[in-house]
Amino acid sequence: MCGIVGYVGFREAAGVLLEGLRRLEYRGYDSAGVAVKVNGRLEVVKKAGKLQVLAESLKERALPGTLGVGHTRWATHGAPNDPNAHPHSSEDGRLAVIHNGIIENYLPLKEGLLQRGHVFASETDSEVLAHLIEEKYQGNLYQAVRLALQEAHGAYGLVVAHQDSEEIVVARTVSPLVIGLGEGENFVASDVPALLPYTRRVIFLHDGDMAAIGKEGVRLTDLKGNPVQREVVEVDWSLEDSEKGGYPHYMLKEIYEQPWVLENTLGGRLREESATAELGLKLDPARYDKVHVIACGSAYYAGWVGKYLIEALARVPVEVEVASEYRYRDPVADQKTLAIVISQSGETIDSLEAIREAARKGAGTLGIINAKGSSITREVDDTLYIHAGPEIGVASTKAYTAMIAAMSLVAVWMGRAKGRLQDQPAAEFTAELRKLPRLVEEALEERPEIARIALKYHQASDYLFLGRHIQAPTAYEGALKLKEISYIHAEAYPAGEMKHGPIALIDEHLPVVVLTTESPLYEKTVSNIQEVRARGGRVIALATKGDSEAKKFAQDVIYVPRTHPLLAPIVSAVPLQLLAYETAVCLGRDVDQPRNLAKSVTVE
Ligand code: M6R
Repeated sequence: MCGIVGYVGFREAAGVLLEGLRRLEYRGYDSAGVAVKVNGRLEVVKKAGKLQVLAESLKERALPGTLGVGHTRWATHGAPNDPNAHPHSSEDGRLAVIHNGIIENYLPLKEGLLQRGHVFASETDSEVLAHLIEEKYQGNLYQAVRLALQEAHGAYGLVVAHQDSEEIVVARTVSPLVIGLGEGENFVASDVPALLPYTRRVIFLHDGDMAAIGKEGVRLTDLKGNPVQREVVEVDWSLEDSEKGGYPHYMLKEIYEQPWVLENTLGGRLREESATAELGLKLDPARYDKVHVIACGSAYYAGWVGKYLIEALARVPVEVEVASEYRYRDPVADQKTLAIVISQSGETIDSLEAIREAARKGAGTLGIINAKGSSITREVDDTLYIHAGPEIGVASTKAYTAMIAAMSLVAVWMGRAKGRLQDQPAAEFTAELRKLPRLVEEALEERPEIARIALKYHQASDYLFLGRHIQAPTAYEGALKLKEISYIHAEAYPAGEMKHGPIALIDEHLPVVVLTTESPLYEKTVSNIQEVRARGGRVIALATKGDSEAKKFAQDVIYVPRTHPLLAPIVSAVPLQLLAYETAVCLGRDVDQPRNLAKSVTVE
């Protein structure tokens, strides 16, 4: 959460900071600020509201320095207003601090600072760092930051500038930071897209790392000051990957990228001759007799689909749990457990802590991750990258379907290794996997019909999503997409559960989206639809192309291409993403940056 950019070099820092923050605005967007060293003094400008508000005020105030730090905020402590925006300055105004994370002992630290006469300008936990570093400063910024961090506990991606220093000093525990290496200039950011206009050579900081970043070089140490070596990584994301490419929103662009993303996720890993998946992992799937899947949000629903896949193809029992629950409940995991953590960002703190918990219990750990070099990839035994490219829209789309594709590969990999997936069904399934990019392209063609349905129902105050078996998680994902970007209240249920309570909600105002794609449970789902219709509910069916019955029992039908029933969640997710998107557009919502959310959740 929160976007951070720091720059030291020869360019005008304010421009680099604004451009970088624009690329990170998905990480938080309730206020923004910069501090730039101008003629030996730090000038701070910070504003509540979106980055544009800050950009407007910077038009009126030139900041011609070449060293600076910038931030976009997702509020934790203190309302999103000007004083709580970052950077936070020391009382003498000589240093400026930008912080992502939470300083857990900020109250006792603040108490002590107040007693020693410090005056605070904000309600944030972060401001204690500015005062603490100011107290420790005796002409060496790096030492002052290091000493302050011996007293402050919690999570931080910390970036500090001082008017008397030619370097910016950064430190990381939990909250990610990545250094970008240039020629005569260097950068730091909380995520790679901010660096892409300038460099692809990066260093991902590890927990407990500090760095002093100057224009000619970077010094890395641990928190005790001992030098550390970190690999310089060449990132393969292009600048265009992180641009809108002519689409009105990142979300729409990312929805349309799904065919090639699936190609990336699957391609090169499917071995049709042997009907298997070659994942290049060190882990031996035959060793495990149960699987725990841990994730949050959409990644959790992808994991839930994965449960059906692994149980069907590998006959291994799978438990799926939201990471924030798993990490605190003393789960029963051991050496025979394969713990799979799924995360687009690879930085979600609950997922990171949950996989650490599984590892502590001896489980083998596998990450299904999008962001290269992210924190989770460094903690797990093995990573299966989904190769979806940067996902900027706050609502996950292409990463979601790519995660399911990756879980399909894992199911084949386990099933084959354990000898439980026979040649014939394996060949059929992998052949269907291979077709997915084309089928998703076909699913996208339904957009005009989906836009019509979105318009018809966009004033509904509630929606219900129903699905059975492997389509139950799809229903939950559809409801999550709709609520997060349109703010329409949406609930999801396994269709068979409806009669145990939610049926009371049904009346002529409630649109009910029912996943009725081809499956052995088709007829049962149709019976659930009849129960909705009998109570006046308005049914939008998601049906398989060629299903001529659907029009008889639903007011509106969205058709999806035929596929293997276990892969229906992938082709069905696409129209649900479009339904949410088109509804949000009808309502004039901020599709890419919905209120209250942030793209990667690095606080508990
Ligand atoms: O980066 P992660 O995949 O770990 O993120 C998990 C969730 O925060 C994420 O899926 C969230 O629910 C999205 N906003 C869903 O669209």
